[in-house]
Formats: sequence, structure tokens, C-alpha cells
Amino acid sequence: MQIQPLHGNFGARITDVTLSGVMNANTLASLRRAIDDYSLLCFPDQDMNDEKQLGFTHLLGEPEAEHVRFGSTGEISYFGTVGNVKDDGNLQDGVNARYQSGNQLWHSDSSFRETPSFVSILHAYEVPPTGGETEFVSMRSGYRRLSRDQKQHIASLHVIHDYVFSRSTVAPVNPNHAASLPPVMHPLVRVNPENGLKNFYIGSHARSVVGMSGTQSRELLDMLLEHTTEPEQILRHSWEPGQTVIWDNRCLLHRGTGYDASRWRRRMRQTRVVGEEKGVIHQMPA
Ligand code: OGA
Ligand code: MN
Repeated sequence: MQIQPLHGNFGARITDVTLSGVMNANTLASLRRAIDDYSLLCFPDQDMNDEKQLGFTHLLGEPEAEHVRFGSTGEISYFGTVGNVKDDGNLQDGVNARYQSGNQLWHSDSSFRETPSFVSILHAYEVPPTGGETEFVSMRSGYRRLSRDQKQHIASLHVIHDYVFSRSTVAPVNPNHAASLPPVMHPLVRVNPENGLKNFYIGSHARSVVGMSGTQSRELLDMLLEHTTEPEQILRHSWEPGQTVIWDNRCLLHRGTGYDASRWRRRMRQTRVVGEEKGVIHQMPA
């Protein structure tokens, strides 16, 4: 397994590994270690299809049911499609493209779930020749760069994450889908259980800080977001067909950068692995 770092803070390109098929225990352990160390792993030239991707996803833990389909229809599927190509190969209509523009806000996948996700696994099949990059930043690095006072100030705070809050600014949320995702509460500061490194945990789904006014909440959440997304902290990932990228949602934020969806095709398939830390369900005040 060849590891080549991609950014001063996080990210690595890994070659000499095949993600599909049988993986020996040592390789799997190295992979888990690399997730904890680098937060984002890019594997070029992977021979992938949905079946192989789901098999690999199982190696890392329990696959997460895709919440849009589950919330709207009750059907379980482990895949989300990123991009503008439908299952039948045709381009999507405008509404879905608008829904996906929510992905252009900095977020951590599934931070709005009671048990947020551990990693997302995204495999690229078709990518535009220009645009359509995905940007990543590390909230671990952001946390490290806070002052001691700032760290102390946020140490025991909790944050409400709310999908309907974040996404209804972009497009209406289906009522059944909305009802399936009540707001949840997570600690603002998380600790990686393997290496003990801390990070704050925010993003577009972070609605408010428990015990603070709306104004104070926004000030703190916006300050942390600005601090962690300064331009030199961003890893801008340009996709190539055949790449599989794994990222650690516990400590990274990401966003899509947009592309001319009327002109270019972009098709990527995503699975996610359920995390281990359970948030507390927020009791809405009476
Ligand atoms: C994702 C995501 C944005 C993009 O895959 O979870 O938010 O356009 N992607 O790459
Ligand atoms: Mn995402």
C-alpha cells in the first residue's frame, strides 16, 4: 500500500490496493488506520460496480440506508447517486439538480442523524471535463488552530443538527422525509477513539447551540465555519473516472463546487458506513 499525502493537514492518495473482492486482515487494518490518520483517502483506478462497492462498504461496518428514499417511501437502499444522471442513464430534471445544490454548502454527511455516519465512500463513473470538484476541510485541523480559550469555551457545548432547517433553504423537503428526520443533538467537540485527536463538529445542518440565543448560536457556528474553511485549508479534489474516495465524516466537511449540469454528465455512486457515537434526541421545548 503506497501512501502519498495530498495536503498539509489531511488527505492521502493510495495505490497498490484493490478495494473490491477479498481483502486480507492486515490490509483492512492498514486502511482503518489510514482513515484515522489522513481522514480522506483517494484510490485511483478501482474496478468498481455497485455490488463490489456494497461488499467493500460492509468491510468497514454497517451500511447506512440512504435517507431520502427511506424517508420518502420507506424503501431501503444503500446507494445515493451524486451528479445529474438518473438510473436509466438520462439526465435528471431541474428539481433534483436543485436538491443537489444543497451539497454545495459545507456539510458532514448525516450529521443530522441520531447516529451520524462514520465514512462516505464515493466512486466516480462519469465526471465533467471542467467543474464538479469536491472540496474538503478538516475540523480536526480547525480545532487544533483554535486558541486555548476558544477550546475551553466550546468544550462542553452541544449543537442541534437539523436537515429540514438546512435543506429547506435550498428546496422543499418532502413531508414524509422531513418527519423521518427530527432535529438531533450532538456534542460540539468530538474525540477520535483511536488516536484521541479532537475536532469540532459543525456544517450546514448545525442549526443552533443548546443554551444560546439564535444570534449567539449563529455567531459561534459561523465563526468556527469561517475559521476552518479558510482558502489555504481547503483540499480541492478533481475527480477522475475510476476513483474511489473515502472520507471521515466525523472530522471533515465537504461541499460540491457546481458544474454546467445542462452540458456535462456527472455520475458517482455513494455508500456510507454508520458511525458508533449516538447523539441524543433533542426534546423540543413544550
Ligand atoms: C457527497 C457530496 C458533493 C459533490 O458526495 O456527499 O456532498 O457535488 N458531494 O461532490
Ligand atoms: Mn455530502
